[in-house]
Amino acid sequence: MTDSTRITTVLGIESSCDECSAAVVRYEGPASVRCLSVSTFSQIEIHRPYGGVVPEIASRNHLESINPMIDRALADAGVAIDGIAVTNRPGLVGALLVGVSAAKALAYAHAKPLVATHHLEGHAASIFLDREKDAGEIPLPLLLAVVSGGHTNLYVMKSLPAGWSETFLSDSLVGRSRDDAAGEAFDKTAKILGFPYPGGVWIDRTAQAGNAAAFDFPRALPQKTNFDFSFSGLKTAVALAAEKIRKENRLQENLPDLCASLQEAIVDALLGKMYRASHEYRCRSLAIVGGVAANSRLRGRLDAEWKAQGYAVPPLFPKHAYCTDNAAMIAAAGLFRLRQGRALAQADLLTLNAIANPER
Ligand code: KG4
Ligand code: ZN
Repeated sequence: MTDSTRITTVLGIESSCDECSAAVVRYEGPASVRCLSVSTFSQIEIHRPYGGVVPEIASRNHLESINPMIDRALADAGVAIDGIAVTNRPGLVGALLVGVSAAKALAYAHAKPLVATHHLEGHAASIFLDREKDAGEIPLPLLLAVVSGGHTNLYVMKSLPAGWSETFLSDSLVGRSRDDAAGEAFDKTAKILGFPYPGGVWIDRTAQAGNAAAFDFPRALPQKTNFDFSFSGLKTAVALAAEKIRKENRLQENLPDLCASLQEAIVDALLGKMYRASHEYRCRSLAIVGGVAANSRLRGRLDAEWKAQGYAVPPLFPKHAYCTDNAAMIAAAGLFRLRQGRALAQADLLTLNAIANPER
């Protein structure tokens, strides 16, 4: 029986959607994990003609790229591995199965401890990636927003990962989107405006030259009593505005203003609820993770506003490379779980399955 606290290096595998990724990380402290290597094959170009991810095509491409990604991550890191972590939920079931099968085979063949990781726990752990050991204390509770293509969830994090329970995500959830996720709101409105998939980054870039007050788009559910989001009304408002302007043949010249205004509506909704939830739950720090955390306006506004909002420390963001899906965050989350002694029992190793929509 190995002492789980001696586990320091972990191989992570991520294949839940359209990024096929493997990474090796090393434990540096209770709130810092060093990424030694990360190797990702993004299928974005492959799915672009379809305007979104096609599950069957994603699975087939994962199958072809998973072993080369793992080989490269291991070679680049050049260290012995103490354990393996793999995303097994939530996600596209066929895509998840490719990573899960590779991880099971490796763990079995090399007799390494394996842990099944929740994709959102990976996003949560991304704030600790490449964070300096002496970066200072993170005042708790921390209000954590997971803003991605599939989720807009607010969590109140009361402990560092060593203290995360098995049900940490469901226990600490305080708000979520009732319809589209924030990333989906970016992607769907971008599609309406004629940008390629995924549109978030195009909106971000085009908005730089625009006026955020040009169009008055709705900020849904601003009530003080709940911390849920709704972005479907924004999508309809953008579609109506775009249709009108297109008929007048002025869409092209209005794109920067449209992008800046819709981006501001999403950022306002996110920050408004984050500040309110954080205040309600007496949080002492803020973090934003997930693909939308790469948004320059969201980062910029939070950087400019945190002091006035009463926080003593700056907000935590993952580096850009760790915002969108990657295996380093899965390895980091898995590393903390393995150190808690939560590796799968030998008897459960080969029966581990992928779960598309877990209850928690
Ligand atoms: O976390 P992620 O890679 O995948 C999921 O787990 O869903 O997030 C992808 C999402 C997409 O909706 C994409 O448009 C959005 O993140 N995204 C952005 C930016 N970069 C990526 N949204 C706004 N601004 C960005 N710069
Ligand atoms: Zn994700």
